[in-house]
Parts: sequence; structure tokens; C-alpha cells
Amino acid sequence: MANRFEKLNLKNRVFLAPMEEVNDIAFRLLCKEAGAGLTWTPLTSPLDPRKQNLEDKPILQIFATSKRGIKKFMKKYDSKVSGWDFNLGCPAATARQQGYGSYFKNIKLIEEILKEMRSSTKKPLIVKIRKSDISFKVLEIAEKYCDAIAIHPRTREQGYSGEPDLDFALEIKKSSSIPVIYSGNVGEKNYKSFLEKFDFVMIGRAAIGHPEIFSKISGNKKFKRKFENYLDLAKKYGLPFRQIKFHAMQFTKGVRGSRKIRNEMIKAKEVEELEKVVQSLFKSE
Ligand SMILES: Cc1cc2nc3c(=O)[nH]c(=O)nc-3n(C[C@H](O)[C@H](O)[C@H](O)COP(=O)(O)O)c2cc1C
Repeated sequence: MANRFEKLNLKNRVFLAPMEEVNDIAFRLLCKEAGAGLTWTPLTSPLDPRKQNLEDKPILQIFATSKRGIKKFMKKYDSKVSGWDFNLGCPAATARQQGYGSYFKNIKLIEEILKEMRSSTKKPLIVKIRKSDISFKVLEIAEKYCDAIAIHPRTREQGYSGEPDLDFALEIKKSSSIPVIYSGNVGEKNYKSFLEKFDFVMIGRAAIGHPEIFSKISGNKKFKRKFENYLDLAKKYGLPFRQIKFHAMQFTKGVRGSRKIRNEMIKAKEVEELEKVVQSLFKSE
């Protein structure tokens, strides 16, 4: 199988990791502009009827516990994405209640779903896993259907804290005949050493509020980190106020004087109010 990643002509091997409640279209577009090799949508149900904004040509990540709706969903969006990913890592309470993500351990069904996904696209297909007792079984299946496997080597119980198990990820890499994407505490300072060991890396939390991390890595000197740029895109796509507020808080974290205006930001009830508060902060920088 010629690797389908080659057809994407990637600018670099550093990607924006999927993050629910963070990776809206405006944030993804900024990360892409800054120089992320690829961006990821948050995990998405193929049964979700809402329109997907995919102007950044992301990898669209789905979660599911059956094949239901997958073919139709993929047909609808395949021309707009760079590729597809299947989530087997989500540790959230809703994943537990509904049995998806890291709680989905039915190997036969996992294979059926990946087979269905493979037959629905000619673009790269990825499966994203955590460290678990089924990681190596999933790898075997992934080798049949996928173009890469993404590993976040923390257990479900660890959530997002504690040390990622690098040795475990290296074992996956050693056993894998397909490219491996590493995820877990990757940042500006250490990404190069991960790229020596793995084919690709993903940056998650280090990019929150800091899309410019990708400009530093890609050497894009034109990119400037400005909340207004997020805001313009967020308005264009009609993103909800709470989403804009979340990013406003993240963009201003650590900026001198931001603690003082945090309360004002928390109290803000509409975009214009928030905009003024943020502007006053950056003007005084
Ligand atoms: C707020 C948040 C939301 C996340 N949502 C997803 C998701 O939708 N799908 C997924 O595969 N991983 C998700 N993750 C996991 C990240 O993609 C990544 O594997 C993990 O955060 C470790 O990388 P980091 O240390 O660079 O953040 C999420 C992580 C965070 C912090």
C-alpha cells in the first residue's frame, strides 16, 4: 500500500492534536495558517446532523460503536477533508456512559468500523489510541486498514496527567509497519527529539492560546498571534459566545496585566464587551 500521506504534500510533520471544545474552525484555521502540517477536528459523531466547517481541510475524527451512519457521513464530507481518524482514546464520562472512545474494546466491531471507513475513502485513515490492554490488537487491525496509528501513551485512568509512557509508544513504533503519530506533552522545545523517534507528532495543550507555536516550528515569520484574528474568524463562522470567551481567556493567559482584567472578561456578556477588554490589555502591553 503506497502511503496515502505522501499525496498530501505535507509542509511539516507537526500536527494540531484533536481537542474537543478547543478545536473550533477559527482556532484550526489559525493553527493551519501558522504552519501546522495538519489539523484535527474534535471527535465527532457520524450521526451529528450539524454542518461541519472544514475550510482548514482537517483530518475529521469520528467516534462510534457501530457502522451506523459512517458511510453516509464520510461520503458527505470526504472531498472537504485531508483524511479521517477513528477515536479509541476518549476517557470522558460521556464516553463511559455511551461506551465509545477508550471504553470501546470490542475488537470485532473495531475491525468492522475501520473496514467500513477504509472502503469509504481513498484518503489517509488513522486510528488514535491510548495505552491499554488492546493497543497491540488494534495495531494489528490498523495495519490492515489504516495509513497511520496515533498513540497517546497514557492510560484511560491517567486522563491527561501523569507521565506519558514513552517506552510503550516506542514499542508500538517498533512493532508497527505503518507510520506512528506520537501525542503527549509535545511542545516547542522537545518536538525535534520526538520526530527522531516517530514519523509525526501532535501538539495539543501547548497550542491552546498559542497557535503561534506552529509558526515557530515551521519558521513562518509572517504569522502574528492576535486575538482579533481569532475573533474575526469566530464571527465569520458564527461561533457561540462561550466558545469565543474560552479562547479569549486562553489567549490572554500569561499576558502582563491579564489577571487584573480577568474578572471583567468573566463578567462579559457579549462579544463587543469582550473585544474591548482584550484590546485594552494588548494596548497596554
Ligand atoms: C481539552 C482536550 C480535549 C481533547 N479532545 C480530544 C478529542 O476530541 N479526540 C482525541 O483523540 N483526543 C482528544 N484529546 C487528547 C489530545 O488529542 C492529546 O492526545 C492529549 O491532550 C495529549 O497531548 P498534549 O500533551 O499535547 O495535550 C483532548 C485533550 C484535551 C486536553
